[in-house]
Amino acid sequence: MKLQSLLSLVLLAASSYAGSDCTGTINSMADVTAAVKCTTVVMNSFTVPAGQTLNLDLLTGTTVTMNGDISFGNQTWAGPLFQVSGTSITFNGNGHTFNGGGPFYWDGLGGNGGVTKPAPMMKIKISGTYSNVKVLNSPARTYSVSNPGPLVMDGLTIDNSLGDQPNSKSNGLAAGHNTDGFDCSTTDLTIQNSVIKNQDDCLAINKGSNIVFKGNTCSGGHGISVGSISSGVTVNGIVISGNTIINNDQALRIKTDATATGSTVTNITYSGNTATGLRLFGVLIDQSYPSTLGTPGSGVALSAVNFVSPQTSLSVNSGAQRVAVNCGSGSCTGSWNWSNLKVSGGSAGKIVNFSGITGFTQ
Ligand SMILES: *[C@@H]1O[C@H](CO)[C@@H](O)[C@H](O)[C@H]1NC(C)=O
Ligand SMILES: *[C@@H]1O[C@H](CO)[C@@H](O)[C@H](O)[C@H]1NC(C)=O
Ligand SMILES: *[C@@H]1O[C@H](CO)[C@@H](O)[C@H](O)[C@H]1NC(C)=O
Ligand SMILES: *[C@@H]1O[C@H](CO)[C@@H](O)[C@H](O)[C@H]1NC(C)=O
Repeated sequence: MKLQSLLSLVLLAASSYAGSDCTGTINSMADVTAAVKCTTVVMNSFTVPAGQTLNLDLLTGTTVTMNGDISFGNQTWAGPLFQVSGTSITFNGNGHTFNGGGPFYWDGLGGNGGVTKPAPMMKIKISGTYSNVKVLNSPARTYSVSNPGPLVMDGLTIDNSLGDQPNSKSNGLAAGHNTDGFDCSTTDLTIQNSVIKNQDDCLAINKGSNIVFKGNTCSGGHGISVGSISSGVTVNGIVISGNTIINNDQALRIKTDATATGSTVTNITYSGNTATGLRLFGVLIDQSYPSTLGTPGSGVALSAVNFVSPQTSLSVNSGAQRVAVNCGSGSCTGSWNWSNLKVSGGSAGKIVNFSGITGFTQ
């Protein structure tokens, strides 16, 4: 190779390296393509045109900082409104907001009818950290998380509390519906120190392993859920600790589809959670989903559901049941240590088709 072409190769390599070591600033959708070629990305306030996804497909190691709030044009479509993907990403929302425009869509029906709503609103497909982001008024489900490597989501806010009220389209129902906080089918994920105000599951784990949900506050919704579990999936290694659950239907739930086959749910550990104002149940473990305490299926093997120190302390409303367990025949197995569970208020529920719970009497 001639010296000159060797030199130009070296220069080319150096310039393409220098090419990503830059700051890309996003002031509108038109800036995104160029900005994501840099490993430092700054996002200022702007409105994403209706019907478009703000999609950040980032280089490995990119740091994203929000310096303003993001809104979205309103349109009935499937979304998502925001998507971010990449490896070893540091995403810092700086307390800024993604405003989903919920009231435009809310009709009390969520994903079960009415207008098509962007769902999920936010698709997170990064490893690294994702922190200090606020989501206001998601049209329906908020976050779907499918991280390609370990991810910590920290200090987030989801505020759909406005959807607790009926509106002109909701026939007297709460306007927000199916506004799940986090839907996770993933592995190696921690969600911590976050506040979720919504009308459905605070967390729903559909499959996966090594998922930690700790130090979060859930209000208004359906509690912290493993499930619903369909056919052919495995859940192993879930830690739910130190969460505060306020005015939810239930605090802690495992729901497996009555018709599911060939699935395994095991190694679910609860500790140090507190709940008040529970409307229906303290703990609900139900293999008859979508029925509640209906005829259970036996196609999901459920084992090693334990309450470890520090104590989990739940307070249910009068009229609610403290603990209900509805297993299929032979599908709940082993010994479950519930000595660190205390539930007060309401009435005892039934424990059906399972006698392996130790250290707890209703
Ligand atoms: C979308 O609709 C909501 C609710 O009506 C409204 O608050 C928001 O400003 C609208 N967004 C835009 C970009 O116009
Ligand atoms: C239970 O889950 C934890 C992670 O939460 C994991 O480290 C451990 O190996 C799992 N135990 C079994 C028996 O699978
Ligand atoms: C036990 O499980 C079987 C099969 O899943 C179900 O048919 C039965 O109703 C359950 N037992 C009770 C007491 O509900
Ligand atoms: C359940 O856990 C408690 C507290 O860790 C422990 O003292 C007790 O021996 C355990 N019970 C069983 C049956 O393993």
